Amino acid sequence: MTESTTLRLPEPFVMVVFGASGDLTRRKLLPAIFQLWCRNHLPESAAVIGYARSDRTDESFRAELCDSMRDEFSCHQGLIDDEAWQAFASRIFYQRGGYDSPDDFEALGRRIETLGAGRNVPGNCMYYLATPPEAFADIIENIGQASLAGRGQTDPWTRIVIEKPFGTDLQSACELNRITRSVFDEDQIFRIDHYLGKETVQNIMVLRFANSIFEHAWNHDYIDHIQITAAESLGVGSRGGYYDRSGALRDMVQNHLMHLLCLVSMEPPSTLTSDAVRDEKVKVLKALRTIPPLCAANGVVRAQYTAGSIGGHDVPGYRQADNVSADSRTETFVAFKVYVDNWRWSGVPFYLRTGKCLPRRCTEISIHFKDVPQVLFNRPPAGPLRPNVLTIRLQPDEGIALEFQAKVPGPAMNIKPLEMDFGYQESFGQAPPDAYQRLLLDAAVGDATLFTRSDEVEAAWQFVSPIIEGCSQDSSDNMRKYTAGTWGPKEADELLDADGKERRLR
Ligand SMILES: NC(=O)c1ccc[n+]([C@@H]2O[C@H](COP(=O)([O-])OP(=O)(O)OC[C@H]3O[C@@H](n4cnc5c(N)ncnc54)[C@H](OP(=O)(O)O)[C@@H]3O)[C@@H](O)[C@H]2O)c1
Repeated sequence: MTESTTLRLPEPFVMVVFGASGDLTRRKLLPAIFQLWCRNHLPESAAVIGYARSDRTDESFRAELCDSMRDEFSCHQGLIDDEAWQAFASRIFYQRGGYDSPDDFEALGRRIETLGAGRNVPGNCMYYLATPPEAFADIIENIGQASLAGRGQTDPWTRIVIEKPFGTDLQSACELNRITRSVFDEDQIFRIDHYLGKETVQNIMVLRFANSIFEHAWNHDYIDHIQITAAESLGVGSRGGYYDRSGALRDMVQNHLMHLLCLVSMEPPSTLTSDAVRDEKVKVLKALRTIPPLCAANGVVRAQYTAGSIGGHDVPGYRQADNVSADSRTETFVAFKVYVDNWRWSGVPFYLRTGKCLPRRCTEISIHFKDVPQVLFNRPPAGPLRPNVLTIRLQPDEGIALEFQAKVPGPAMNIKPLEMDFGYQESFGQAPPDAYQRLLLDAAVGDATLFTRSDEVEAAWQFVSPIIEGCSQDSSDNMRKYTAGTWGPKEADELLDADGKERRLR
């Protein structure tokens, strides 16, 4: 991440998207690349090669992308500019191939070379793994076998972007790191978590380190506790098969929630270089207090949604979803308390919560400051004074709000909590840009700040893996139920009630 306001533009490069026939490519990646190209953030000569096993030609691939782009744009961004699309489409190509076939990777290498030479691309190449994770190791190893990794070479450069999930536990993440690093150097590897590309997530650092009023109070002297919630209103939909092997701890906590926890609690980095920022995040992960294996007894609340209703629509229970086993033990909701055991956060609990089929989609971090001494305004009529709460809203309706106390006009000393509210859209006149645009551009210019380093991913698993193992081995019945459309099981709120804290969003 650079301190300068000037945008760095990538050098000409060829991008290869593995898993080109899939959902992510269609809905997110190609629309993001197209947008970057329309905004002149990509070089004229950039080319994209989609790679997958299914049968397609350049033309049929372009036509398919055009159709899905029209759907995406009409839903989110207005009409697609036909002229711009035609110009962009001529830069898209399709290469059919298997993920475990060395011959197909040799053929891919020849295609990259021919296309690059024809467009004066000086050999720069960015691979994007947009397949299910089962295919990651094969692809990486075959890139290496076909001598397409460009290891140890910065001009021209070769980079690889790897989608989440990166491993399913500590052991598999270490193994995937080993395989990836046997083919690429760490500075070529970009492990992506699209949460980090959101403007408001990056704004956490700006809020803390560019405003002196907050950072001085950002510690155990002033902060009582912090709540981090990532709520989804949707259920598993058609992704039941994937989700049932994953669950909320793997799908949300190990990556998104850990990133948010790190950004809100890390020390100021000495510079904004990618390694300085990531060093500070790793220190937080290493300072997390381990949750002992008997997770239910140690305050980890796991639950599954049962049939209910959200926004007036009936929702079937998790165990009734397609490709989910009728006796599934996979959690769709998890809540727990964690401590960052360092000087700054000594004794400050962080309450984390995420779930599917909650009443609304919303991700937010609320920082609850300590109570003022209840001396001057003892026992106001509306009850005890509420502490200040700073809320960082990450989605939707991105913004920041500060709750404070004000006197109600009139002869009596009546006090009422009010909110100072900054809304991203109102203040900047536009919705924040799509996270994939930002992250693709960063990867293309070689800025890894918003990507996860190998030690970071392993440190996050080091914390989360024992919880997953502990929960599965726990002989007590630790799976709670909650009705779809509610804020989760009562045990999740009891975690805060027991500590005398008030749950936001309940
Ligand atoms: N979709 C999203 O919104 C989203 C969001 C965040 C992260 N991700 C991550 O991005 C990656 C791709 O997600 P996706 O939703 O695009 O996946 P997808 O549609 O299921 O798969 C993408 C393509 O990968 C190929 N493939 C290779 N091995 C496969 C296998 N074992 N099973 C099924 N397909 C296989 C298939 O193409 P061929 O058969 O033609 O080769 C398929 O079209 C995943 O790692 C996912 O976790 C996705």
